Amino acid sequence: MIDSSFKSLGSSFLHDLSMKSWQRGIVNFFSESIPFSFSSGNEYADLVVKMIQLFSDHLNQSINIVEFGSGNGVFAKKCIQKLNDSSVSFHYLVTENIPSLVADFDSIPIISHSNHVESKLVDIHNVQLDQPFHVGILTYLLDTFPVKTLELREGQLFEWMVSVSVKDDAILQFMCDGDLVTWKKADIDVFLSNPIDDNMLPVLSRIHDCLDIVWESQPCSALVLDSTGILDAWLQKQSKTDQGFFNFSSAWWEMLDSLQTQMADNFMLLCYDFSSINVSQSKDYLDSFGRFGICYFYSIPFFLLQEYCDRHNLQFISSQFPDSENQIGVITYLKSMTFKRDVTALLDTTEPGQDVYGYTLKIQEANSLDLCLEFVREAKQSLTLDQQSDYVFLFSIASKLYEFGCYDQVIHYTDFILFDYGGFSLNAILLKSKALRKTGFIKDALSLVDMGLKHASSYDLLYLEKAFIAQELNQMDVVKESLTLYFDTVMVNPQWQLLDLLKSL
Ligand SMILES: C[S@@+](CC[C@H](N)C(=O)[O-])C[C@H]1O[C@@H](n2cnc3c(N)ncnc32)[C@H](O)[C@@H]1O
Repeated sequence: MIDSSFKSLGSSFLHDLSMKSWQRGIVNFFSESIPFSFSSGNEYADLVVKMIQLFSDHLNQSINIVEFGSGNGVFAKKCIQKLNDSSVSFHYLVTENIPSLVADFDSIPIISHSNHVESKLVDIHNVQLDQPFHVGILTYLLDTFPVKTLELREGQLFEWMVSVSVKDDAILQFMCDGDLVTWKKADIDVFLSNPIDDNMLPVLSRIHDCLDIVWESQPCSALVLDSTGILDAWLQKQSKTDQGFFNFSSAWWEMLDSLQTQMADNFMLLCYDFSSINVSQSKDYLDSFGRFGICYFYSIPFFLLQEYCDRHNLQFISSQFPDSENQIGVITYLKSMTFKRDVTALLDTTEPGQDVYGYTLKIQEANSLDLCLEFVREAKQSLTLDQQSDYVFLFSIASKLYEFGCYDQVIHYTDFILFDYGGFSLNAILLKSKALRKTGFIKDALSLVDMGLKHASSYDLLYLEKAFIAQELNQMDVVKESLTLYFDTVMVNPQWQLLDLLKSL
């Protein structure tokens, strides 16, 4: 049985499963529908490069940049391209703690072939670097740290604890040695109580539906939770009427303390996170975290980062994007007020990705081809080229055009994505393959899907697409092999009805 006692969110089973899910590397972004386009897009890269340029102008020396939790490496690619076009002299280290993601960085030429760029396996909780660095980039990484979910109510702190157990009627199905296996509560309990084998990672996408999750609050003490006294110092400044929900993690302080020992005398950390800028922003414990599939993200209280910086004689500058769940924070040893003013001015814009997202929504909702094309025209007139290169924007246009049967145009738009994101654009590969099949280029579809599988050999939907392609080519041995691999790797929404077809082959 899994331990279903009430625990802090970051010590709970939900956090463990979320972290485990990242071991699947690139496919995790697609299987769990984790948004990555705005955080890896040209618009954010442009903003970061402008901030690095300001910082470098103050330092007047070559800048060592380290990006932590670089994910698919696409942000690094764009940031390096833009830095190359700037006057900043730099060295860039691209890092991740998932070995398969670090190996994938090699397929991005600007990372693998530039003298001033390297990649490395780095765990943000245990950073050991050969050189001190000046700029650290942490995009949607702080919000993966294990947290305690707290509530401030009438001057008193409460912790919301979570109990996780397997539902009585839970069922989990998967293929093992060619047979469909059905697990009930007792089997799932045994499975989850033991270390999870790599070959069982695909089923994680379906585990969340099997869980019963119950929350309860308990009074707690700021000084017990945070021995540094930072949380308590912040608490003492709150009035009796201040209330709301927020997270706390001592791992933030440990990481920041540890990074400072490895940073150069002058440094800047850039954090882009799911975050809150005041305690009243989250009205419910459920607002203090977000979930994509099995991956949890915890809101970062920027007001506590401010408290840490005050205590450590650091400057903290934050965006104030209105009505946004995301903010950008800058932590720096630079005390210059000019630097603060210039960075604040850069952050005083709309959130990166927001304008293009508005058009993306309109295009997704367009109910006729004419309307879709009109929105695309409008978007092209009002968005910058950086904004127009956004993955989800281009993918939404391509998907809509597929719905309306404009397959040549689907190929045109997915080619933009493929040019930019290459083998990492797994759903663009699928969509282009479908359009190629519709236009009769079946063998091209096969080569494209095989290229995708070289990057992501555990992405179930590529095998499914390959089975459809092989069926059109009448290569039934390939259909059989592809369906077998599909069922071995299937994550979300398994197409069990295809088992009959597989058995008949
Ligand atoms: C939400 S994704 C963000 C990826 C990328 N920065 C972006 O914005 O697209 C979080 C990333 O953090 C990585 N990660 C999780 N725990 C980590 C750790 N302890 N050290 C370094 N990276 C970690 C995951 O592998 C994942 O790629």
